[in-house]
Amino acid sequence: MSKLFTPIQAGALELGHRVVMAPLTRMRSDPGDLPSDLMVEYYTQRASQGGLIVSEATPVMREGYGYAGAPGIYDDAQIAGWRRVTDAVHAQGGQIVMQLWHVGRRSHVSLQPGGKAPVAPSAIPAQGHAYGPDGEVPFSMPRALERDEIPAIIARFGEGAARAKAAGFDGVEIHGANGYLPDQFLQDRTNHRTDDYGGPIENRARFLLEATEAAMGAFGPDRVGVRLSPSGTYGSMHDSNPPATFGYVAGRLDALGIAYLHVVEPRIRGTELIAETDAVAARHLRAAFGGTIIAAGGFDGPSAEAILKAGDADAVAFGRAFIANPDLPDRLREGAPLNAYDRSTFYGGDAHGYTDYPRLQRAHEHSAAE
Ligand SMILES: Cc1cc2nc3c(=O)[nH]c(=O)nc-3n(C[C@H](O)[C@H](O)[C@H](O)COP(=O)(O)O)c2cc1C
Repeated sequence: MSKLFTPIQAGALELGHRVVMAPLTRMRSDPGDLPSDLMVEYYTQRASQGGLIVSEATPVMREGYGYAGAPGIYDDAQIAGWRRVTDAVHAQGGQIVMQLWHVGRRSHVSLQPGGKAPVAPSAIPAQGHAYGPDGEVPFSMPRALERDEIPAIIARFGEGAARAKAAGFDGVEIHGANGYLPDQFLQDRTNHRTDDYGGPIENRARFLLEATEAAMGAFGPDRVGVRLSPSGTYGSMHDSNPPATFGYVAGRLDALGIAYLHVVEPRIRGTELIAETDAVAARHLRAAFGGTIIAAGGFDGPSAEAILKAGDADAVAFGRAFIANPDLPDRLREGAPLNAYDRSTFYGGDAHGYTDYPRLQRAHEHSAAE
């Protein structure tokens, strides 16, 4: 008996099934970081009755950009465009939360207002590339945030959440994973601060928890989720004691009563499956977090069923499979084959590799076409 296709509650979100669309940066917004017509079509295609979509990561301020072409939620002018997306998803019977983003050090001066240095907890550069207006560029050396600059950034998460609410989103997810700003505060390789945002985990967790509370100011706790990637190394991340760090954070989020915890399994590096190991992170955090857990990272239908049946997660998010299969829930329900994804069209471009992946051909559609 399948568990993937049974209902589940995540805070105030009532889901008809447990196949979640993972947040996926696709860099196809219009100038002004506005949601495009193509984006409306893409999300409409992937909405399903009772399903949950987590939007692509969406910066809450211009300084939070590291990917040209990502849509924003830092300006009221962006609300109307997002409203088209949420209306379309709701019309299909689906729900959608917005992933709120600040990339911190994972940016380049060409993406920053005034060409300034990107900001971070500490002036420690990341290895790798940002997506600038003219293509990939090595990350710039970041500048350590002054203590008195931090409250204004936290407030932007609250403002982003309020705009997301005005745009009709069902909630928001704080992007605390994959080496972006909240994660840079959490993990001790990237946080060498000596003030109350650095040092012991109680301090390193402060940024993420305050950003979460700011978002709760708009939506209440039961429509705010948080994404974490314990032991993830993507973005040159490292922590000297991941079980303690992430266990503490999960416990604090549990006390806040958030809608769900979204856990990226460490067997994924960026987007590559590096080890066919068990999904260990969700199981570990289960001890500290009593609410709904969404697991992500390298799942297919059978492994998703397995983690649900083991009780280590309550729902499963799919990334690349959702890129290539707009009707992924139907395909998983029927055990139908999946379209292969084309990595070359992941980041930026046009409709090709974005809205042109085919749905399953159904018998009655065949006959209608004949
Ligand atoms: C093209 C692409 C864009 C992504 N963008 C985001 C993002 O915006 N936010 C995020 O938290 N994760 C992002 N991820 C990670 C996915 O959400 C997911 O965790 C990862 O792909 C592993 O799941 P999968 O094996 O089902 O693809 C992205 C992954 C891909 C392939």
